[in-house]
Amino acid sequence: EKGGFDHFMLKEIYEQPNAIKDTFRGRLRVAEGIVKISGVEDNLQKFMNADRILIIACGTSWHAGLVAEYIFEEFARIPVEVEYASEFRYRNPVIRPNDVVIAISQSGETADTLAAIKLAKESGAFVFGVCNVVGSSISRETHSGAYTHAGPEIGVASTKAFTTQITLLTLMALRIARAKGTMARADYYRYLQELELVPDLVAEALKSNDNVQAIAAIYKDAPNCIYLGRGYNYPVALEGALKLKEISYIHAEGYPAAEMKHGPIALIDERMPVVVIAPKQEHYDKIVSNIQEIKARSGKIIAVVTKGDTQVKALADHVIEIPETSDALSPLLATIPLQLLSYHIAVMRNCNVDQPRNLAKSVTVE
Ligand code: M6R
Repeated sequence: EKGGFDHFMLKEIYEQPNAIKDTFRGRLRVAEGIVKISGVEDNLQKFMNADRILIIACGTSWHAGLVAEYIFEEFARIPVEVEYASEFRYRNPVIRPNDVVIAISQSGETADTLAAIKLAKESGAFVFGVCNVVGSSISRETHSGAYTHAGPEIGVASTKAFTTQITLLTLMALRIARAKGTMARADYYRYLQELELVPDLVAEALKSNDNVQAIAAIYKDAPNCIYLGRGYNYPVALEGALKLKEISYIHAEGYPAAEMKHGPIALIDERMPVVVIAPKQEHYDKIVSNIQEIKARSGKIIAVVTKGDTQVKALADHVIEIPETSDALSPLLATIPLQLLSYHIAVMRNCNVDQPRNLAKSVTVE
Protein backbone atom coordinates (compact mmCIF):
# COMPACT_ATOMS: atom_id res chain seq x y z
CA GLU A 1 0.00 0.00 0.00
CA LYS A 2 2.97 2.32 0.51
CA GLY A 3 4.15 1.48 -3.00
CA GLY A 4 7.61 0.40 -1.87
CA PHE A 5 8.18 3.50 0.25
CA ASP A 6 8.86 3.27 3.98
CA HIS A 7 6.19 5.82 4.81
CA PHE A 8 3.07 7.30 3.26
CA MET A 9 4.63 10.74 3.60
CA LEU A 10 7.55 9.83 1.35
CA LYS A 11 5.24 8.13 -1.13
CA GLU A 12 3.07 11.24 -1.23
CA ILE A 13 6.09 13.52 -1.65
CA TYR A 14 7.10 11.45 -4.68
CA GLU A 15 3.58 11.44 -6.06
CA GLN A 16 3.66 15.20 -6.54
CA PRO A 17 4.62 15.28 -10.23
CA ASN A 18 1.62 13.11 -11.04
CA ALA A 19 -0.66 14.75 -8.50
CA ILE A 20 0.00 18.14 -10.11
CA LYS A 21 -0.74 16.64 -13.53
CA ASP A 22 -4.03 15.38 -12.13
CA THR A 23 -4.83 18.89 -10.92
CA PHE A 24 -4.17 20.17 -14.46
CA ARG A 25 -6.14 17.48 -16.24
CA GLY A 26 -8.77 18.95 -18.55
CA ARG A 27 -8.13 22.38 -17.06
CA LEU A 28 -4.76 23.50 -18.37
CA ARG A 29 -5.08 23.48 -22.14
CA VAL A 30 -1.89 24.96 -23.44
CA ALA A 31 -2.53 24.23 -27.13
CA GLU A 32 -5.83 26.10 -26.99
CA GLY A 33 -4.37 28.78 -24.75
CA ILE A 34 -7.10 28.35 -22.15
CA VAL A 35 -7.65 27.42 -18.53
CA LYS A 36 -11.00 25.86 -17.83
CA ILE A 37 -12.22 25.03 -14.34
CA SER A 38 -15.96 24.47 -14.42
CA GLY A 39 -16.66 25.94 -10.98
CA VAL A 40 -14.82 29.10 -12.03
CA GLU A 41 -16.46 29.31 -15.47
CA ASP A 42 -19.90 28.99 -13.88
CA ASN A 43 -19.14 31.89 -11.56
CA LEU A 44 -16.75 33.96 -13.61
CA GLN A 45 -18.71 37.20 -13.15
CA LYS A 46 -18.58 36.84 -9.39
CA PHE A 47 -14.81 36.45 -9.46
CA MET A 48 -14.40 39.30 -11.95
CA ASN A 49 -16.55 41.63 -9.88
CA ALA A 50 -14.99 40.68 -6.56
CA ASP A 51 -13.89 43.73 -4.57
CA ARG A 52 -11.87 41.42 -2.41
CA ILE A 53 -11.04 37.76 -1.97
CA LEU A 54 -11.08 36.34 1.53
CA ILE A 55 -9.23 33.09 1.92
CA ILE A 56 -10.03 30.96 4.95
CA ALA A 57 -8.14 27.85 5.97
CA CYS A 58 -6.01 26.23 8.68
CA GLY A 59 -2.48 24.86 8.87
CA THR A 60 -0.84 23.94 5.60
CA SER A 61 -3.94 24.94 3.65
CA TRP A 62 -3.59 28.40 5.18
CA HIS A 63 -0.03 28.52 3.84
CA ALA A 64 -1.33 27.64 0.37
CA GLY A 65 -3.73 30.54 0.85
CA LEU A 66 -0.83 32.89 1.55
CA VAL A 67 0.90 31.85 -1.66
CA ALA A 68 -2.40 32.45 -3.45
CA GLU A 69 -2.60 35.93 -1.94
CA TYR A 70 0.62 36.91 -3.70
CA ILE A 71 -0.48 35.26 -6.94
CA PHE A 72 -4.03 36.66 -7.07
CA GLU A 73 -2.87 40.17 -6.25
CA GLU A 74 -0.12 40.05 -8.87
CA PHE A 75 -2.09 38.35 -11.64
CA ALA A 76 -5.68 39.46 -11.12
CA ARG A 77 -5.12 42.66 -9.10
CA ILE A 78 -7.79 41.67 -6.58
CA PRO A 79 -7.02 42.50 -2.95
CA VAL A 80 -6.73 39.32 -0.92
CA GLU A 81 -6.90 38.65 2.80
CA VAL A 82 -5.91 35.30 4.23
CA GLU A 83 -7.54 34.34 7.48
CA TYR A 84 -7.15 31.55 9.98
CA ALA A 85 -10.62 30.02 10.00
CA SER A 86 -10.53 29.80 13.80
CA GLU A 87 -9.92 33.53 14.17
CA PHE A 88 -12.26 34.59 11.40
CA ARG A 89 -15.26 32.75 12.79
CA TYR A 90 -15.07 34.34 16.22
CA ARG A 91 -14.12 37.85 15.20
CA ASN A 92 -17.35 39.30 13.85
CA PRO A 93 -15.53 39.88 10.55
CA VAL A 94 -16.59 42.43 7.95
CA ILE A 95 -17.87 40.49 4.95
CA ARG A 96 -19.35 42.45 2.08
CA PRO A 97 -21.67 41.24 -0.68
CA ASN A 98 -18.99 41.63 -3.33
CA ASP A 99 -16.44 39.63 -1.40
CA VAL A 100 -15.60 36.21 -2.71
CA VAL A 101 -14.60 33.71 -0.07
CA ILE A 102 -12.28 30.84 -0.96
CA ALA A 103 -12.10 28.07 1.63
CA ILE A 104 -9.13 25.73 1.28
CA SER A 105 -9.10 22.30 2.91
CA GLN A 106 -7.49 19.00 2.04
CA SER A 107 -9.87 16.89 4.09
CA GLY A 108 -12.91 19.09 3.64
CA GLU A 109 -13.79 18.27 7.24
CA THR A 110 -11.90 20.85 9.32
CA ALA A 111 -14.36 22.11 11.93
CA ASP A 112 -13.15 25.71 12.08
CA THR A 113 -13.09 26.06 8.30
CA LEU A 114 -16.58 24.62 8.05
CA ALA A 115 -17.90 27.04 10.67
CA ALA A 116 -16.20 29.99 8.95
CA ILE A 117 -17.89 29.01 5.67
CA LYS A 118 -21.29 28.98 7.32
CA LEU A 119 -20.66 32.42 8.76
CA ALA A 120 -19.57 33.78 5.38
CA LYS A 121 -22.67 32.34 3.73
CA GLU A 122 -24.90 34.00 6.31
CA SER A 123 -23.33 37.34 5.32
CA GLY A 124 -24.32 36.76 1.73
CA ALA A 125 -20.85 36.18 0.29
CA PHE A 126 -20.18 33.72 -2.50
CA VAL A 127 -18.13 30.84 -1.09
CA PHE A 128 -15.89 28.71 -3.27
CA GLY A 129 -14.23 25.55 -1.95
CA VAL A 130 -10.81 24.18 -2.82
CA CYS A 131 -10.87 20.65 -1.40
CA ASN A 132 -9.14 17.38 -2.05
CA VAL A 133 -11.56 14.87 -0.59
CA VAL A 134 -14.46 14.41 -2.99
CA GLY A 135 -17.90 14.70 -1.39
CA SER A 136 -16.45 16.08 1.88
CA SER A 137 -18.49 18.35 4.15
CA ILE A 138 -16.78 21.53 2.93
CA SER A 139 -17.27 20.59 -0.71
CA ARG A 140 -20.98 20.22 0.02
CA GLU A 141 -21.33 23.32 2.18
CA THR A 142 -19.74 25.74 -0.34
CA HIS A 143 -21.69 27.33 -3.23
CA SER A 144 -19.22 26.04 -5.77
CA GLY A 145 -15.70 24.77 -5.89
CA ALA A 146 -12.98 22.76 -7.53
CA TYR A 147 -11.17 19.66 -6.39
CA THR A 148 -7.41 19.41 -6.31
CA HIS A 149 -7.54 15.74 -7.36
CA ALA A 150 -4.31 14.97 -5.49
CA GLY A 151 -5.54 11.50 -4.56
CA PRO A 152 -5.74 10.21 -0.99
CA GLU A 153 -3.28 11.81 1.42
CA ILE A 154 -2.68 9.44 4.34
CA GLY A 155 0.36 10.99 6.04
CA VAL A 156 -0.73 13.49 8.67
CA ALA A 157 1.86 15.92 7.34
CA SER A 158 0.34 17.50 4.27
CA THR A 159 2.56 17.40 1.19
CA LYS A 160 0.91 16.77 -2.16
CA ALA A 161 -2.26 18.48 -0.94
CA PHE A 162 -0.25 21.70 -0.52
CA THR A 163 1.40 21.74 -3.93
CA THR A 164 -1.85 20.81 -5.69
CA GLN A 165 -3.74 23.54 -3.82
CA ILE A 166 -1.19 26.07 -5.04
CA THR A 167 -1.45 24.64 -8.55
CA LEU A 168 -5.24 24.94 -8.61
CA LEU A 169 -5.24 28.44 -7.12
CA THR A 170 -2.65 29.51 -9.71
CA LEU A 171 -4.87 28.21 -12.51
CA MET A 172 -7.79 30.12 -11.03
CA ALA A 173 -5.78 33.34 -10.78
CA LEU A 174 -4.68 32.97 -14.40
CA ARG A 175 -8.24 32.42 -15.61
CA ILE A 176 -9.54 35.43 -13.71
CA ALA A 177 -6.58 37.60 -14.73
CA ARG A 178 -7.22 36.78 -18.38
CA ALA A 179 -10.92 37.54 -18.05
CA LYS A 180 -10.22 40.84 -16.31
CA GLY A 181 -7.41 41.79 -18.65
CA THR A 182 -5.01 42.39 -15.78
CA MET A 183 -2.32 40.22 -17.31
CA ALA A 184 -0.66 40.79 -20.67
CA ARG A 185 -1.53 38.14 -23.22
CA ALA A 186 2.10 37.15 -23.70
CA ASP A 187 2.64 36.69 -19.98
CA TYR A 188 -0.50 34.61 -19.73
CA TYR A 189 0.63 32.22 -22.47
CA ARG A 190 4.09 32.03 -20.98
CA TYR A 191 2.62 31.00 -17.62
CA LEU A 192 0.53 28.29 -19.25
CA GLN A 193 3.63 26.88 -20.88
CA GLU A 194 5.69 27.11 -17.72
CA LEU A 195 2.97 25.49 -15.65
CA GLU A 196 2.91 22.52 -17.97
CA LEU A 197 6.62 21.99 -17.27
CA VAL A 198 6.15 22.05 -13.48
CA PRO A 199 5.57 18.29 -12.98
CA ASP A 200 8.91 17.55 -14.68
CA LEU A 201 10.62 20.28 -12.67
CA VAL A 202 9.19 18.85 -9.45
CA ALA A 203 10.57 15.45 -10.49
CA GLU A 204 13.95 17.12 -10.98
CA ALA A 205 13.71 18.83 -7.57
CA LEU A 206 13.10 15.40 -6.02
CA LYS A 207 16.55 14.37 -7.21
CA SER A 208 17.96 16.50 -4.40
CA ASN A 209 16.88 13.72 -2.03
CA ASP A 210 20.35 12.26 -1.32
CA ASN A 211 21.86 15.68 -0.78
CA VAL A 212 18.98 16.64 1.53
CA GLN A 213 19.36 13.39 3.47
CA ALA A 214 23.05 14.13 4.04
CA ILE A 215 22.17 17.62 5.32
CA ALA A 216 19.48 16.10 7.56
CA ALA A 217 22.13 13.87 9.16
CA ILE A 218 24.14 16.95 10.16
CA TYR A 219 21.25 18.87 11.74
CA LYS A 220 19.03 16.10 13.10
CA ASP A 221 19.88 16.94 16.72
CA ALA A 222 19.36 20.70 16.45
CA PRO A 223 16.87 21.93 19.06
CA ASN A 224 15.75 24.85 16.89
CA CYS A 225 15.64 25.88 13.28
CA ILE A 226 14.69 29.05 11.40
CA TYR A 227 13.22 29.19 7.90
CA LEU A 228 13.39 32.35 5.82
CA GLY A 229 11.88 33.34 2.51
CA ARG A 230 10.68 36.44 0.72
CA GLY A 231 7.74 37.19 -1.54
CA TYR A 232 6.13 34.09 -3.01
CA ASN A 233 8.48 31.98 -0.91
CA TYR A 234 7.71 33.56 2.44
CA PRO A 235 4.74 31.18 2.91
CA VAL A 236 7.03 28.32 1.85
CA ALA A 237 9.29 29.20 4.79
CA LEU A 238 6.27 28.96 7.11
CA GLU A 239 5.34 25.62 5.59
CA GLY A 240 8.89 24.26 5.87
CA ALA A 241 8.93 25.18 9.57
CA LEU A 242 5.52 23.59 10.16
CA LYS A 243 6.66 20.34 8.53
CA LEU A 244 9.73 20.17 10.74
CA LYS A 245 7.73 20.93 13.91
CA GLU A 246 4.99 18.46 13.35
CA ILE A 247 6.93 15.38 12.36
CA SER A 248 10.37 15.79 13.97
CA TYR A 249 9.34 17.79 17.08
CA ILE A 250 12.12 20.31 16.51
CA HIS A 251 11.12 23.85 17.34
CA ALA A 252 11.10 25.77 14.09
CA GLU A 253 9.96 29.19 13.00
CA GLY A 254 9.34 30.64 9.58
CA TYR A 255 9.80 34.34 8.90
CA PRO A 256 9.86 36.77 6.01
CA ALA A 257 13.63 37.13 5.63
CA ALA A 258 13.66 40.89 6.18
CA GLU A 259 11.80 40.55 9.50
CA MET A 260 14.91 38.96 11.01
CA LYS A 261 16.37 42.28 11.99
CA HIS A 262 13.24 43.11 13.99
CA GLY A 263 13.91 40.49 16.61
CA PRO A 264 14.64 36.91 15.59
CA ILE A 265 18.22 37.72 14.57
CA ALA A 266 19.00 37.76 18.30
CA LEU A 267 18.57 33.97 18.21
CA ILE A 268 21.38 33.45 15.72
CA ASP A 269 24.60 31.81 16.85
CA GLU A 270 26.78 28.96 15.59
CA ARG A 271 24.23 26.40 16.78
CA MET A 272 21.29 27.81 14.83
CA PRO A 273 20.53 26.24 11.44
CA VAL A 274 18.80 28.69 9.11
CA VAL A 275 17.07 27.38 6.02
CA VAL A 276 16.92 30.17 3.44
CA ILE A 277 14.82 29.90 0.32
CA ALA A 278 16.92 31.92 -2.09
CA PRO A 279 16.09 31.15 -5.71
CA LYS A 280 17.32 33.52 -8.41
CA GLN A 281 14.38 35.88 -8.62
CA GLU A 282 13.22 39.37 -7.86
CA HIS A 283 14.85 40.70 -4.67
CA TYR A 284 17.62 38.10 -4.92
CA ASP A 285 20.15 40.72 -3.83
CA LYS A 286 18.03 41.37 -0.74
CA ILE A 287 18.07 37.75 0.28
CA VAL A 288 21.82 37.61 -0.33
CA SER A 289 22.25 40.42 2.17
CA ASN A 290 19.94 38.63 4.62
CA ILE A 291 22.25 35.62 4.32
CA GLN A 292 25.28 37.81 4.96
CA GLU A 293 23.65 39.14 8.13
CA ILE A 294 23.18 35.58 9.41
CA LYS A 295 26.69 34.52 8.41
CA ALA A 296 28.13 37.52 10.26
CA ARG A 297 26.54 36.03 13.43
CA SER A 298 27.87 32.52 12.70
CA GLY A 299 24.49 30.97 11.85
CA LYS A 300 24.54 27.83 9.72
CA ILE A 301 22.97 28.40 6.31
CA ILE A 302 21.12 25.75 4.36
CA ALA A 303 20.08 27.51 1.16
CA VAL A 304 17.61 26.45 -1.48
CA VAL A 305 18.96 27.98 -4.69
CA THR A 306 18.35 27.95 -8.40
CA LYS A 307 20.46 25.47 -10.32
CA GLY A 308 23.76 27.05 -11.31
CA ASP A 309 23.68 29.67 -8.56
CA THR A 310 27.11 30.90 -7.48
CA GLN A 311 26.56 33.92 -5.23
CA VAL A 312 24.58 32.21 -2.46
CA LYS A 313 26.66 29.07 -2.86
CA ALA A 314 29.74 31.06 -1.90
CA LEU A 315 28.11 32.12 1.38
CA ALA A 316 26.02 29.11 2.43
CA ASP A 317 27.15 26.08 4.42
CA HIS A 318 24.96 23.83 2.27
CA VAL A 319 22.99 24.39 -0.90
CA ILE A 320 20.09 22.48 -2.37
CA GLU A 321 19.40 23.18 -6.02
CA ILE A 322 15.99 23.50 -7.63
CA PRO A 323 15.31 24.07 -11.33
CA GLU A 324 14.65 27.51 -12.73
CA THR A 325 11.08 28.72 -13.23
CA SER A 326 9.25 32.02 -12.96
CA ASP A 327 8.99 33.62 -9.52
CA ALA A 328 5.30 32.90 -9.08
CA LEU A 329 5.74 29.20 -9.72
CA SER A 330 8.85 28.77 -7.57
CA PRO A 331 6.95 27.78 -4.38
CA LEU A 332 5.96 24.55 -6.14
CA LEU A 333 9.65 23.65 -6.44
CA ALA A 334 11.11 25.22 -3.30
CA THR A 335 8.66 23.25 -1.14
CA ILE A 336 10.03 19.89 -2.28
CA PRO A 337 13.43 19.88 -0.53
CA LEU A 338 11.84 21.26 2.65
CA GLN A 339 9.41 18.34 2.73
CA LEU A 340 12.32 15.94 2.24
CA LEU A 341 14.40 17.65 4.91
CA SER A 342 11.69 17.31 7.56
CA TYR A 343 11.03 13.73 6.48
CA HIS A 344 14.65 12.58 6.78
CA ILE A 345 15.20 14.38 10.08
CA ALA A 346 12.06 12.78 11.53
CA VAL A 347 13.16 9.32 10.38
CA MET A 348 16.64 9.83 11.86
CA ARG A 349 15.05 10.88 15.15
CA ASN A 350 12.88 7.75 15.15
CA CYS A 351 9.70 9.76 15.06
CA ASN A 352 6.42 8.35 13.87
CA VAL A 353 6.43 10.15 10.53
CA ASP A 354 2.95 9.27 9.31
CA GLN A 355 1.24 9.59 12.67
CA PRO A 356 2.98 12.29 14.69
CA ARG A 357 2.06 12.60 18.34
CA ASN A 358 -0.92 14.75 19.33
CA LEU A 359 -2.09 15.21 15.73
CA ALA A 360 -4.96 13.91 13.64
CA LYS A 361 -5.30 13.93 9.88
CA SER A 362 -8.51 15.89 9.99
CA VAL A 363 -9.27 18.23 12.82
CA THR A 364 -13.01 17.82 13.17
CA VAL A 365 -13.19 19.38 16.61
CA GLU A 366 -12.35 22.97 17.40
O1 M6R B 1 -7.78 19.19 5.87
P1 M6R B 1 -7.33 20.61 6.00
O2 M6R B 1 -6.54 21.07 4.84
O3 M6R B 1 -8.47 21.55 6.32
O4 M6R B 1 -6.39 20.61 7.26
C1 M6R B 1 -5.83 21.78 7.77
C2 M6R B 1 -4.72 21.49 8.75
O5 M6R B 1 -5.21 20.76 9.85
C3 M6R B 1 -3.57 20.70 8.11
O6 M6R B 1 -3.06 21.34 6.98
C4 M6R B 1 -2.42 20.48 9.11
O7 M6R B 1 -1.83 21.70 9.43
C5 M6R B 1 -1.41 19.49 8.55
N1 M6R B 1 -1.13 18.46 9.51
C6 M6R B 1 -0.12 20.12 8.15
O8 M6R B 1 0.79 19.21 7.65
